[in-house]
Amino acid sequence: MAVARVFLCALCVLRVALAAVYFQEEFPDGERWRNRWVQSTNDSQLGHFRLSSGKFYGHKEKDKGLQTTQNSRFYAISARFKPFSNKGKTLVIQYTVKHEQKMDCGGGYVKLFPADVDQKNLSGKSPYYIMFGPDICGFDINKVHVILHFKNQYHANKKPIRCKVDGFTHLYTLILRPDLTYGVKIDGQMIESGSIEYDWNLTSLKKTEKSSAESKEKENKPQDWEKHFLDASASKPSDWNHELDGDWQAPMLQKPPYQDGLKPEGIDKDVWLHQKMKNTNYLMEYDLSEYENIGAIGLELWQVRSGTIFDNFLITDDEEYADNFGKATWGETKGPEREMDAIQAKEEAKRAREEDEEEFLMSKSDGKANDFRRFHRRDEL
Ligand SMILES: *[C@@H]1O[C@H](CO)[C@@H](O)[C@H](O)[C@H]1NC(C)=O
Ligand SMILES: *[C@@H]1O[C@H](CO)[C@@H](O)[C@H](O)[C@H]1NC(C)=O
Ligand SMILES: *[C@@H]1O[C@H](CO)[C@@H](O)[C@H](O)[C@H]1NC(C)=O
Repeated sequence: MAVARVFLCALCVLRVALAAVYFQEEFPDGERWRNRWVQSTNDSQLGHFRLSSGKFYGHKEKDKGLQTTQNSRFYAISARFKPFSNKGKTLVIQYTVKHEQKMDCGGGYVKLFPADVDQKNLSGKSPYYIMFGPDICGFDINKVHVILHFKNQYHANKKPIRCKVDGFTHLYTLILRPDLTYGVKIDGQMIESGSIEYDWNLTSLKKTEKSSAESKEKENKPQDWEKHFLDASASKPSDWNHELDGDWQAPMLQKPPYQDGLKPEGIDKDVWLHQKMKNTNYLMEYDLSEYENIGAIGLELWQVRSGTIFDNFLITDDEEYADNFGKATWGETKGPEREMDAIQAKEEAKRAREEDEEEFLMSKSDGKANDFRRFHRRDEL
């Protein structure tokens, strides 16, 4: 038993050691976050962030994050990390967001940018790879965006995912896996999952891809089809007599019937590989959910009423590491945060009651004064 436990623990450590953590930000060092995050100067009207754990929190220091401070502003701020590609690997994006101001209308999402993003000039027009997170406006919009950039277009998730609208801190997690499945978690619970191909608007895209590929194939077919089935390894016999025998041509190899989906490979070797292209391969080929040069994360959004706090950013290739990080951060402080909010609410209710009573007393004496004035006014008339 004890041996088994030791073994499990060793596995545990191994797993953590294997996880690639591309970016992790908990704002543990006071104002030094300003060395890591770059405020955009694209517009002088862009709103400013400050470090704060807000009006109520689970832990005054640990819950400090980036808070929006000005109403009705655009915000644009970002942080860099060593560029990486998620090709063949899982990509997990996770962070916490708290709308303690009771969000009326505004974004609470993050964007992942290519490494060549101009941080100082960050704006709504800066191209991004992925946008993920909650967006609230009135009663109509309260959704989690998962927008994927793919083939020069942004593709929004078709399946609506509702976000949290209360004033507490919530943990948002997006998982994109190399087998083209995905998952969206809120507070550690899987809220939506499935196939990227089906849950994004890619069916129409696939059709256009296919028809343009088909027309290309038609164009190239006749000459290519013949040429590539000549035996490239043959050479002109030394006794070939041009005048008697005519132009020399390499002998034909046995040619398979032309088939849609056959693909030329290794043109210089003159070999056709008999490879049927499956629809999923089609998407794979165009690197759906693969991003070559991920290099920055940013908050580029609009808020009417400010006060949102962003914290506990994580980008990794390991779902389990993200789970554990979520538990160690949000998991630890969510309970105490609610307790503090409940205590404040009670105090507020008490204060309000006292104020009511005071007003009541005031209005009583006011009432007398009013009677007095009315009396005198009547007298004046
Ligand atoms: C801000 O971004 C917009 C949109 O990309 C661009 O047109 C404008 O030139 C930028 N302004 C500055 C000062 O860089
Ligand atoms: C800022 O970025 C926009 C495109 O997003 C570009 O048109 C503009 O020239 C850039 N401005 C500067 C000062 O680099
Ligand atoms: C889906 O894609 C097609 C073609 O690209 C576009 O016309 C349509 O508006 C898209 N639908 C949604 C819900 O994004």
